[in-house]
Amino acid sequence: MGEEIFRDMEPFRIKMVEPIHLPSREDRERFLEEAGLNVFLIRGENILIDLLTDSGTGAMSDRQWAGLMMGDETYAGSRNFYNLEAAVRDILGFEYVLPCHQGRGAENVLHTALIKAGDVVPGNTHFDTTKAHIEHKKGRAIDCTIDEAADPYLDLPFKGNLDLKKLEDVYKQYGREKIPFTVVTATCNSGGGQPVSLENMRKVAELSGRYGIPVCLDGARFAENCYFIKKREKGMENMPIKDIARETAACFDMMTMSSKKDAIVNIGGFIATGSREIYDSVKNFGILFEGFVTYGGLAGRDLEAMARGLYEGIDEDYLTYRIGHVRYLGEKLRNMGMPVLWPPGGHAIYLDMKEFLPNIPQDQFPGMAFCAHLYLESGVRGVEIGTLLNGRDPDTGMNRPAKLELVRLTIPRRVYTHRHLDYVAKAVKKVWDMRDSIRGLELTEEPPVLRHFTARFKWVE
Ligand code: F0G
Repeated sequence: MGEEIFRDMEPFRIKMVEPIHLPSREDRERFLEEAGLNVFLIRGENILIDLLTDSGTGAMSDRQWAGLMMGDETYAGSRNFYNLEAAVRDILGFEYVLPCHQGRGAENVLHTALIKAGDVVPGNTHFDTTKAHIEHKKGRAIDCTIDEAADPYLDLPFKGNLDLKKLEDVYKQYGREKIPFTVVTATCNSGGGQPVSLENMRKVAELSGRYGIPVCLDGARFAENCYFIKKREKGMENMPIKDIARETAACFDMMTMSSKKDAIVNIGGFIATGSREIYDSVKNFGILFEGFVTYGGLAGRDLEAMARGLYEGIDEDYLTYRIGHVRYLGEKLRNMGMPVLWPPGGHAIYLDMKEFLPNIPQDQFPGMAFCAHLYLESGVRGVEIGTLLNGRDPDTGMNRPAKLELVRLTIPRRVYTHRHLDYVAKAVKKVWDMRDSIRGLELTEEPPVLRHFTARFKWVE
């Protein structure tokens, strides 16, 4: 009985609290105006519930905080590095670990070592920093996600999967010469936090092996992906999460990790690989961009929190709660009739703006308009994952209309309670009820790369 009702309850108690408060309506209007209508530019202290990202926003455990006190701040050879290395070897089976300050630091190091101008990097809807780094190296990202992922309501277990036919076509067209590696993002953030099946990863590995093309796991949310495999993939239900993580990693030559997600730390990341050759090729760029190979832009204490967090991120009680917590918001919104991308993602609920604000054209950024109103109505911050994020085509300079025009309500790990999510659901409903009066946005300032962070807008007349 106890086990039965325990299920997705918080498997922790709360020892420290951080007050939050709702600024007045008048203040919210001013803050939004000052931010050029871009919620990214609002100060955190003026947000009530912050669902901008699950990255670096999690609550560390008592064990992690205790680990911070055990930081060995030696420049070279800190004991915390060896703890991290041991954790990665134990959980993922990769022999070589190069710490980096966060995920994009790892991408920068890896891509500098492996990508040359004119290369292509296939994958399943690359995350924006991944795509931006590929393009920064004058390469091109090619999306090989299954077509079904473009239907926001198709209830399939593994909508993050790669289409093997598309992938092989890319391999045939460009060959090993022009493809430094393929990247599999699991779960697939830009595709709605959807998982990739173990079967699919194994097939990608097998196919890529035949063409001699290395495969890289973007493993920011690998633990959540493992949980979905356990719950949804045939024959996996009795396998411990740790073993699934091993099986996952075994499909890859290397991995980039943003530990700010599934290792539940506020900063950190790494590159891991089983190949001495790959490690040697990235090592010097690691030193150049991030710092010596045993600290990678982090303090010893950060490495310790990461080593400990990796274990907490694969704990099954934690994952049951985590995935259930996110799903709770998704089901609530769906039951209220909101257009929610289905099934719910591992780390976030995505709202379909093509349904929510059908009258706002994509180049007037309906997702940004929604986020502005959500903030005005409730102090809640969401984030656009759509045409603004997609950026412009490097060849034509035109906006790239997103296949899925989404707003992401991203749930930080172990931070908000179910009651907080009830409030969020009510806030979304409030915006829904006024949707006919919502106008689109026009850019007034637009940076050339990763424009969504700092772009400014005005309302369309
Ligand atoms: N890969 C994926 C799948 C990500 O989601 C992110 C970051 C990165 C790489 C880059 O890692 O932030 O540590 O440099 N995603 C955050 C988000 C920013 O909000 O989804 P980073």
